[in-house]
Amino acid sequence: MDQNEKYIALVTGGTGGLGTAICKRLSKDGFHVVTSYNNAEKAEKWQAKMKSEGYDFEMYHVDVSDYGSVEAMIAQVEAKLGPIDVLVNNAGITRDGQFRKMTVENWDAVLKTNLYSVFNCTRNVINQMCDRNYGRIINISSVNGQRGQFGQANYSAAKAGMHGFTKTLAMEVARKGITVNTISPGYIATDMVMAVPEEIRNKIVAEIPIGRMGGTEEIAHLVSFLASKEASFITGANYAINGGQHVY
Ligand code: CAA
Repeated sequence: MDQNEKYIALVTGGTGGLGTAICKRLSKDGFHVVTSYNNAEKAEKWQAKMKSEGYDFEMYHVDVSDYGSVEAMIAQVEAKLGPIDVLVNNAGITRDGQFRKMTVENWDAVLKTNLYSVFNCTRNVINQMCDRNYGRIINISSVNGQRGQFGQANYSAAKAGMHGFTKTLAMEVARKGITVNTISPGYIATDMVMAVPEEIRNKIVAEIPIGRMGGTEEIAHLVSFLASKEASFITGANYAINGGQHVY
């Protein structure tokens, strides 16, 4: 897709399961993909693996939960490559456990990494997008932000919060050529989901009408669609992509 060639896409948390598929798909579709990482050791191995598969992603270290760290990282990207056209807020963690026992640390970690990060990253790209009258912001939320999940009060709160953010920002920047959308994946076969005990996971899969977990590339396909120039009339939307697990 050559029409995407001049666009710079920043994907946070690129080394994760969804992040990897999103980086690859955007790259195949012609975007210049930049990703952020937090764990240097994991990032080095990931970059080498990507190189062996023919991808050359620039990587920047950041703590997405820290405003100053994000500000510095985005300034670095812009100084080297120019303004960011597409921001995919993908970085996220889980700290599952029922709420009665949830610690302040596990609440804070999930809210800061999954939701404050959306503020931190978006706030640092939005004004230049407004100045240039173009931008695509894609927030990776979750079916569990839409419907709740036993053991995920922190995660569900952060993921539901993301879409509230999407709806408001979409209105505020609609006339500036910027679209803001949420994608809410269901259970996708990533390390994050595979960390759920097998017995619980099997019960969850049994609730999915399609009868399987999703593939990372199925999410990446939707990200690339929303990132495209042609998707200019879609904003403030929340795309459920969950195999029919949650229909409403
Ligand atoms: N509904 C009702 N009760 C449930 C339940 C459910 N769904 N699941 C567990 N329970 C009950 C158990 O029967 C048990 O009851 P008793 O105390 O009476 O025996 C109790 O809750 C479990 O107690 P634990 O002390 O084991 O609970 P815990 O605080 O350690 O939490 C858990 C357990 C970690 C939450 C575990 O249930 C779990 O891993 N659940 C899956 C969570 C999940 O789906 N996470 C998704 C991760 S991937 C992701 O988030 C990506 C995405 O976007 C989809």
